[in-house]
Amino acid sequence: MSDIVCITLNPTLDLSNEVDRVVATHKMRVRNQRQDVGGGGINVARVLVELKGEAGGEADVVVLSGGATGQLLAAALSAMPFKLHILPMQGEVRIAVMVYETETGQEYRFVPEGPVVSAIEIDRVLLALESLPARYMVASGSLPRGAAPDTYARISRIAARAGARFVLDASGEALAAALAEGGIYLFKPSLSELERLVGHSLDVQAAADVASDLVARGKAQVIALTLGADGAMLINAEGRTRLPAILVPVRSAVGAGDSFVGAMVFALSRGQALQRAFRFGLAAGAAAVMTPGTDLCRRADILALYRQACLDTGDPDRLDWVSGG
Ligand SMILES: Nc1ncnc2c1ncn2[C@@H]1O[C@H](COP(=O)(O)OP(=O)(O)OP(=O)(O)O)[C@@H](O)[C@H]1O
Ligand SMILES: [Mg+2]
Repeated sequence: MSDIVCITLNPTLDLSNEVDRVVATHKMRVRNQRQDVGGGGINVARVLVELKGEAGGEADVVVLSGGATGQLLAAALSAMPFKLHILPMQGEVRIAVMVYETETGQEYRFVPEGPVVSAIEIDRVLLALESLPARYMVASGSLPRGAAPDTYARISRIAARAGARFVLDASGEALAAALAEGGIYLFKPSLSELERLVGHSLDVQAAADVASDLVARGKAQVIALTLGADGAMLINAEGRTRLPAILVPVRSAVGAGDSFVGAMVFALSRGQALQRAFRFGLAAGAAAVMTPGTDLCRRADILALYRQACLDTGDPDRLDWVSGG
């Protein structure tokens, strides 16, 4: 049986480039252009596969794809060890552009909103999900334009019917609707996503209060509030755990959130307790910022950072669960 289903309704082709300095008007000669697949659910699946190592295959990828760029996306995805479920759309998969400015170490990210999809196209995805057995359903990323705001709420219901744990990393109206529905197992907001949800700015304490309230009202069982370079906080019915970020050389923040989610779900799916899974996610988030451009996180980095974090918290872990099963 397939373990973890990763859903991406608005995938991207990511083009990353390097330039000495970003300037107006003049042609900028960029170097080291790379092309990658992206989009929340796809990134989470890439992390799962990275953690699984040589054995491969522990991720079903469900994606809406169309147009000539969709063919490039499909070709790239087929080369990865995924169980692929590509559902067609009329629109073209968007192309995101990342530019790394070598003189300053700054990164610029240009992300188009993507195509407009139809209700029928979304319904086809949901139908595909109905027939996929899963222990975890992970929905990550923005909804495409045209998708009804309750799309993630509907996926939450499908997960509930299948007895799967629903994991959500989303924002805006789609997030609000999914929370109104409730029954989310793991919700991973950033501070700004929670701020948008409540409509005003929050400090960490106030954000944790919002999260605790969501847990108390049964909207989500576990909330991992990630705070970028300030680490993360885990909130559930038992209380709150705050962990500082692991200090690493920062190269590119792309995919830190998805790496966090992928690693945390991986650990949970391997039977690890919540606190350890949380720490594992934190290690993967840190590992992700060490890698350039659209590279996510490397297995060896995650394991080394996690092992160190375990020692620091006085909870040594032999990590035998990572390579097993
Ligand atoms: N500069 C950093 N140094 C160390 N760890 C980091 C850094 N930035 C992020 N992380 C780790 O990655 C986790 C997730 O990052 P972050 O909170 O930025 O996610 P996000 O806002 O969802 O990002 P995105 O959606 O852009 O990928 C953080 O909780 C932290 O553990
Ligand atoms: Mg995020």
